Amino acid sequence: MAIRNIREMGEEVLTKRAKEVKEMTPRLRQLVEDMLETMYSAYGVGLAAPQVGILKRIVVIDVSEDQDTPYVLINPEIIEKDGEQTGMEGCLSVPGKQGQVTRPQHVVVRAQNEDMETFELEGEDLLARAICHELDHLDGHLYVELVEGGLQDVEEPEEEEEAE
Ligand code: NI
Repeated sequence: MAIRNIREMGEEVLTKRAKEVKEMTPRLRQLVEDMLETMYSAYGVGLAAPQVGILKRIVVIDVSEDQDTPYVLINPEIIEKDGEQTGMEGCLSVPGKQGQVTRPQHVVVRAQNEDMETFELEGEDLLARAICHELDHLDGHLYVELVEGGLQDVEEPEEEEEAE
């Protein structure tokens, strides 16, 4: 496994449509492993292949508190969505920023796993948000296009003041 370099807003690869995965290969399995490692090391809850410079329709997501429930979605497609949620969103490709985005409250996504078997995943709340955010990356879109009320700086946690 290896940590890959995360591409940042302004790089062309983040604006292109990623291509369908037709078959799993050792190289793509390695990519998936690396994407998971890269996401975890950056404390992200999701990562799409274009964010590491690869235009393939692959995303990894883990919204669990202990970061022990990874989802690998290959050729994902949202087949159901309903409801609405508005909340703060950020992206590893847009460091130090966040913004308010409205997304569906509930989605069902159909995808293939690493063995190219089709499955469906249902997501609510943060998982629904992450699925929508990551799938947008596969079509060359960033959440900043959807931000309501402008992009904000993420506040750094204040350093604890020393007691006198
Ligand atoms: Ni992102």
